[in-house]
Amino acid sequence: MACLAIIGGSGFSSFAALQVRECRQVVTPFGETSAPLVCGHLDGTELLFLPRHGVGHRLPPHRINYRANLWALRASGADRVVGLAAVGGIGDRFPPLTIVVPDDIIDYTYGRGHTIYDGEGERMEHVDMTSPYCEELRQALIRACAASGCVAVANGTYGATQGPRLETTAEIARQERDGCDLVGMTGMPEAAIARELGLCYASLAFVVNWAAGKGQGVITMEEIQTNLAKCVGRVEQVLRVLATSRVGRA
Ligand code: HPA
Repeated sequence: MACLAIIGGSGFSSFAALQVRECRQVVTPFGETSAPLVCGHLDGTELLFLPRHGVGHRLPPHRINYRANLWALRASGADRVVGLAAVGGIGDRFPPLTIVVPDDIIDYTYGRGHTIYDGEGERMEHVDMTSPYCEELRQALIRACAASGCVAVANGTYGATQGPRLETTAEIARQERDGCDLVGMTGMPEAAIARELGLCYASLAFVVNWAAGKGQGVITMEEIQTNLAKCVGRVEQVLRVLATSRVGRA
């Protein structure tokens, strides 16, 4: 039966509430996934979990095999995928600790395996990305936030940067002029590949720092880690409601 998959990012290399049934290494046409897929259930509901950065957070954003990850999730029965995202806040509406369900993306990444249509003479499709996230899943996430008492911003444009370094002040000023509200390093090509594979994909983002030049002084890893730790419980609660209750259904 089709199920929900969660791709965990920084701060989410495991999902404590998940009752694990098996860890499955899936062979894909694109090579290895970040880690074996974790198959389990949450209060009786089937769920897949994959830590995007691998076990022990070993993969930087540009080395993640986004194609293999999404292909493997689909091959294992996922039809809906939530990508968790720790992000920097650019706009005034997005201070640290804000939870956001973004609704648009600008891609600044380069040199990543960004499409499943990568072979000569193969079938190829120009997928529509007018609305890059699956609106049904976005609405389900927004309802799950409300039902779990988690105040969330229901829209925002995610700027995907290459990393692993953080941005300069001028880069963030440019992104703000472009219309970005949030900045992260893994939202693309994840969203585009999910669309190519016909997966319903949305993101649950949580702000862990002011983006460069938007707060006081420099960005420290300590600040990011402290804010990540504060977001984990709320995000897990939203996922639990999304996976197991009626508000999580389309
Ligand atoms: N920039 C890019 N990615 C991020 C940031 C940031 O400020 N914070 C968390 N992920």
